[in-house]
Amino acid sequence: AQNERDSLFIILNFASEFFKKQLFQSEEGKSIGLSYFKERGFNEQTIKTFELGYSLDQWDGLLKEAKSKGYSEDILEKAGLILRQENKKYDRFRGRVMFPIQNVAGKVIAFGARTLRSDKKQPKYINSPETDVYHKSNILYGIHQARQAIRNEDLCYLVEGYTDVISMHQAGVHNVVASSGTSLTKEQIQLISRYTKNITVLYDGDSAGIKASFRGIDMILENDLDVRAVVFPDGQDPDSFSRTMTSDAFQEYLKSNARDFITFKTDILTDGGKQTDPTKKVQVIRDIIESISLIPDGIKRSVYVSASANLLDVEEQVLLSELNKLIIQKQ
Ligand code: UTP
Ligand code: MN
Ligand code: MN
Ligand code: MN
Ligand code: MN
Repeated sequence: AQNERDSLFIILNFASEFFKKQLFQSEEGKSIGLSYFKERGFNEQTIKTFELGYSLDQWDGLLKEAKSKGYSEDILEKAGLILRQENKKYDRFRGRVMFPIQNVAGKVIAFGARTLRSDKKQPKYINSPETDVYHKSNILYGIHQARQAIRNEDLCYLVEGYTDVISMHQAGVHNVVASSGTSLTKEQIQLISRYTKNITVLYDGDSAGIKASFRGIDMILENDLDVRAVVFPDGQDPDSFSRTMTSDAFQEYLKSNARDFITFKTDILTDGGKQTDPTKKVQVIRDIIESISLIPDGIKRSVYVSASANLLDVEEQVLLSELNKLIIQKQ
């Protein structure tokens, strides 16, 4: 019901304000949370733009505060803010820096929370569960801060992580959102397509990131948007990479390294053109034809087939007939 959704928005906003207050005003928040953000290079303006916060390292920091203000345990639980074991209730987020996840309109609907410990005993990030106002497959982190810029630039950068969005924003690239570690969905692409039909994927420069970018590219093509991709050097993500250079140099890197998906895939699959083994080449061709077959628009398909024929040095007719076989199989 609408009433219940409104109560969820209210408690989530209360929690977000509480986490912000802890970050800026409590001794623990300042000495641990705020200094962590500063060490990562986030400036005060950036911390405010993304409404970052800190959850105290206590079992019931939020629970106690919320109850004293008259909020029920029931609504805290429905918002995903507290957990229950038998009859004992306690805060879900404890001793972590907090990244509120906002809907398009800027309402807080969930949180991502990063541990500050480097031991591997607990997950690096924990996130809110699905609730009546948070369906993670329908939302993109940063969309509220990015939507106007996406429209203005007629381009959306898509990254993996919270900190990638934040660092890029600070580096002057505001048209950026994150899928937050889950694989890209149709609903997320439709959300972007309200503002632009052009997506550039910037996934981490590791094998998981490359896999995710291939899946993402196919999803984007299937939904009839145009897609480009940028590779980062080994082990770098947009956040870490942007911090190795000036904002201007970073923006320039993005512009000059965004490749169409065919060049991007060919480059990766052939290890930058070094791999010339014919068996491998056959695999690359098949892989790219698979991606092209997902594109609904026939004109685009034929343009990409010509481009692939040139790039891969094969007869266009051969590619076309293989492509048509794939398309028929799918019908
Ligand atoms: P990464 O492992 O690449 O983290 O996961 P990151 O964003 O670079 O974070 P830092 O720089 O180490 O702080 C990418 C995204 O996947 C989700 C988060 O949304 C994260 O931003 N993730 C990752 C989780 O939800 N849980 C995890 O344990 C790890
Ligand atoms: Mn706002
Ligand atoms: Mn990663
Ligand atoms: Mn990172
Ligand atoms: Mn990363």
